[in-house]
Amino acid sequence: MQIIDLLHHRRSSKKFGDKAPTPEQLEKILKAGLRAPDHGKLKPYHFVVIEKSGMPQLYELFKAAVAEFDMGEERLKKAEKLANQAPMIIGVVAKLDHSIAKVPAWEQMITAGCSSYAIQLAANALGFDTVWITNKWVNGSALRSAFGCQDQDKVIALIMIGSPETEEQITLAPESESLDGFVSYIR
Ligand SMILES: Cc1cc2nc3c(=O)[nH]c(=O)nc-3n(C[C@H](O)[C@H](O)[C@H](O)COP(=O)(O)O)c2cc1C
Repeated sequence: MQIIDLLHHRRSSKKFGDKAPTPEQLEKILKAGLRAPDHGKLKPYHFVVIEKSGMPQLYELFKAAVAEFDMGEERLKKAEKLANQAPMIIGVVAKLDHSIAKVPAWEQMITAGCSSYAIQLAANALGFDTVWITNKWVNGSALRSAFGCQDQDKVIALIMIGSPETEEQITLAPESESLDGFVSYIR
């Protein structure tokens, strides 16, 4: 697929087949994350790869967050579902440094967000479906600790990645978006 077509038709999917990226594919995906636009070349992010064998541990971290924030029974079921949904999840931590005057924390956060999106797109380009989720559990103390967060850091993404559920082809939006109402010009 042409890069421009992927950019115009990318879609999320929450249903996955069994295949996770191979180590070689994973390296390519993560390297795309490292090429996000980055004021000050800070690389203000860290990636946590959760493989299939790590999903029970992730479920425990979700469960701890459900208890910590009193999120209730329904969220607990959702947590179990999420931990069984994709064969791989890449967590993205924004590593924020508030002491850098030239690059405020909001710029660092955006760089980490661009890095997350690059990871999604690279996975799509290699034939994997993806979805970026967060939810309240990303703020859970146990999960933050397992992800190596310092106080100022923020878990900004859990990117689910896996082979398409039924077809060879990744999920794509049939139509590209209309620009109506989104653009103005200074000429
Ligand atoms: C920062 C961020 C957090 C998100 N968190 C969630 C989430 O917790 N649950 C969810 O269903 N979608 C979440 N989404 C939205 C999905 O990733 C997806 O973009 C949305 O469902 C629209 O689908 P599309 O990407 O196919 O347009 C999040 C997106 C972003 C950028």
